[in-house]
Amino acid sequence: MVHLGPKPPQHRKGTWTDVPASFISELHALEESLTLPVETLHKITDKFISELDKGLSKAGGNIPMIPGWVLDFPTGKESGDYLAIDLGGTNLRVVLVKLGGNSDFDTTQSKYALPSDIRTAKSEALWDFIAECLKKFVDEEFPEGVTEPLPLGFTFSFPASQDAINEGFLQRWTKGFDIEGVEGNDVVPMLQAAVERQNVPINIVALINDTTGTLVASMYTDPEAKMGLIFGTGCNGAYYDVCGDIPKLEGKLPADVSADTPMAINCEYGSFDNEHEVLPRTKYDIQIDAESPRPGQQAFEKMISGYYLGEVLRLILLELSKEKKLFFQGQDLSKLEQSFIMDTSFPARIEEDPFENLSDTQELFQSVLNLSTTAGERKVIRRLAELIGDRSARLSCCGIAAICKKRGYTSGHCAADGSVYNRYPGFKERAAQGLRELFGWGPEIKEDPIIIVPAEDGSGVGAAIIAALTEKRLKNGLSVGVKK
Ligand code: GLC
Repeated sequence: MVHLGPKPPQHRKGTWTDVPASFISELHALEESLTLPVETLHKITDKFISELDKGLSKAGGNIPMIPGWVLDFPTGKESGDYLAIDLGGTNLRVVLVKLGGNSDFDTTQSKYALPSDIRTAKSEALWDFIAECLKKFVDEEFPEGVTEPLPLGFTFSFPASQDAINEGFLQRWTKGFDIEGVEGNDVVPMLQAAVERQNVPINIVALINDTTGTLVASMYTDPEAKMGLIFGTGCNGAYYDVCGDIPKLEGKLPADVSADTPMAINCEYGSFDNEHEVLPRTKYDIQIDAESPRPGQQAFEKMISGYYLGEVLRLILLELSKEKKLFFQGQDLSKLEQSFIMDTSFPARIEEDPFENLSDTQELFQSVLNLSTTAGERKVIRRLAELIGDRSARLSCCGIAAICKKRGYTSGHCAADGSVYNRYPGFKERAAQGLRELFGWGPEIKEDPIIIVPAEDGSGVGAAIIAALTEKRLKNGLSVGVKK
């Protein structure tokens, strides 16, 4: 394997001869606070490892480390037709997966944009919306109707406690969702009831986290896959542990589950360092947290994931213009003052701007924020986008390195999905570079032993495989949850 892609942008601290002098000291201070040297990454990774262990312990910790009750590795031989849905980002996805049984599959899918107010709607509105989408999809795909209820794998990408594969008690909403009446409850019967109200012939077989789905889907086709990672609206990872190494399951394992039975763990590591001990948070991170629906939660995720990257940039620009009176002088800042007006595609487009004079960036600011920009401002904006993207990628490596060190992985593939991984320019290269620094692989290492690779479609294919594995266990009279 070779190093992926071009080298990430080099830090250019101190070479700002072409921006106004008044910007320089501000810029240096921002560079300082957003740059993560490898020593910081080591410190974060060390704490990460002990927090992963704590999460598996009886006492528990900040990282939930949720056993996902996927107790088998996929073999590639799983076959059959399954429905899968994925709730957790900006869209609801419905997928019909035909598993071929030879590490192959076919998918047909539809995407439905979540209504803009759904993140804060009432519980029934959410379930009815999903059930209506499912009805549309099933009517289109099965115009003749079905003889048996369709088995469905429900990818619910939030921290949900599971005592069995077919349940999920929402611990707390993340990623800006705040729907009343769901936290603390099992979401499976809620969706099943909505589906029945719509008369759609569906049986929810398994509840899956997107990271677990990604892990299992990738293992279906890639024997080197070691973990499933999402860098999207949120960030999180899953890996296989063994039941005997999960102290909090002691006394709860059914007789047919032995100490060496594999168990997929949904880490929910977006909540790493909620106690704010090692993450170098800036005042912008602190403000984002304070103004979020769940302050104090998801400390790591709020510095990394797509839901927040544009907001970090917005807060910095607002400070530079409103308080420091350096940027956008004499202009109407009302658009820039709107929280979350800049989603992650905003810094991504700035970084992608191929023009020397950053004319795409100029247009973007004009059309979305009604702001005209000077050439000097645009240079600084571009640098800020780079710093925010680089920080996100480097922090992401700490979770990966921690799982590798915890499980003793010295080689393998980390299967990643999500909008930031797939579409944020430079993320892949920066993350690869971060891992090289963390593992100390110098130029003498020609092939990185641990690499991040694009995942198979976890929320579709992974959910289907897990549904198939679950049906097989049930057919064979094997357990899919804690001792009853
Ligand atoms: C958030 C969710 C988690 C999910 C991740 C990526 O961290 O809590 O369940 O895996 O986002 O979608």
